[in-house]
Amino acid sequence: MSLPPLKDSFSAHFSMIGNIFNPNDVNAGGTAVTNTRLTRHFNILTAENSMKPSELTRGVPAGEYNFTTADRMVNAALASNIKVVGHTLLWHSQIPQWQRNLASASKETALAAMKEYITDVVDHFKGRIYSWDVLNEVFPDGVTAGSDWKTSMRGNNPWFRSIGSDFVYEGFLAVRLADPDAILYYNDYNTDQVGKATMIRNMVRDVNARYKQAYPNEPRLLIEGIGMQEHHNTDVSAKNVENTIKLFKPLGVKLSVSELDVLGQSWNDYGSAAVTPGGLEQQAMLYRDLFRVYIENKDIIERITLWGVTDDRSWRSSGLPLLFDSSGKAKLSYYAVIDALK
Ligand code: G3I
Repeated sequence: MSLPPLKDSFSAHFSMIGNIFNPNDVNAGGTAVTNTRLTRHFNILTAENSMKPSELTRGVPAGEYNFTTADRMVNAALASNIKVVGHTLLWHSQIPQWQRNLASASKETALAAMKEYITDVVDHFKGRIYSWDVLNEVFPDGVTAGSDWKTSMRGNNPWFRSIGSDFVYEGFLAVRLADPDAILYYNDYNTDQVGKATMIRNMVRDVNARYKQAYPNEPRLLIEGIGMQEHHNTDVSAKNVENTIKLFKPLGVKLSVSELDVLGQSWNDYGSAAVTPGGLEQQAMLYRDLFRVYIENKDIIERITLWGVTDDRSWRSSGLPLLFDSSGKAKLSYYAVIDALK
């Protein structure tokens, strides 16, 4: 018996239930998503890798773009009546060498290059992207709640190194100007940890206040959403996720669960031990608890995106982190997620 589509099961709470896609999930002409697990269950897709800076640009200078694969994927999704999240514009990982080199450039040179990259890419996809993950993972692991966000960003983010914390405001503003219809997100992992969550809250609050001052008549926020990636393991507590949602709520932004997966084991066992039946039960319970929290906060959560469909195609497949096993059969975690609806 085939299962009801996840997007239908959750439609009373969330209008967008998403997943990731790759070049082989669409046809050669870019006229359809051919992976039927995606078209059956999901109505919004994020390219797992194909829209990252390293994929869109090759070599030096910044002008050499390679949009062929991403265009094929985006067009296929839209033709299949599926929305697309643009992922991602400003990052420290999966970026071309010319962006890395800008870490030691002057502020003026780096700012001009950043604005040029954003304007070219966002303009290219204009009208086809529902929301952009503008800035990804700018805060390091272990950052503490008492830190100053302006000085506590990752040292290997080239834009932070050369431009300083101003690049956040300038980057989001450049995206807004290039495609005013797209919804602009900040996206990060470990947002269940109070240190990172507080840095994000402070950054979003201050950047949006600066925008309000510069554009007093503009009703929209500049950073309109926070993507909580939600790459979890069985040690994580849904209560902490709930606390973070409460921390973000006064910002008035939308939230999305942007990259959800839950290992069937603890962080410590991941990579060194096999997943056990007990681990899969714990995984299912955490999935259920997380979805209960998401449903309770459906007034501010606009989308839930899972980072993969079947375990074998996950970026951390050994931890069996998804709702369907490698044969496509629904796992306990799938039924736990449905259970959260009761
Ligand atoms: O394309 C090359 C291929 O040519 C080569 O033969 C192969 C050998 O390893 O590597 C291929 O590239 C890999 C790429 O995925 C495409 O499969 C990279 O090594 C690998 O590092 C890369 O991993 C991706 C990872 O981001 C990189 O940071 C994962 O697929 C992707 O799921 C993951 O997604 C990120 C989000 O973008 C941001 N949040 C965290 C999330 C998980 O890390």
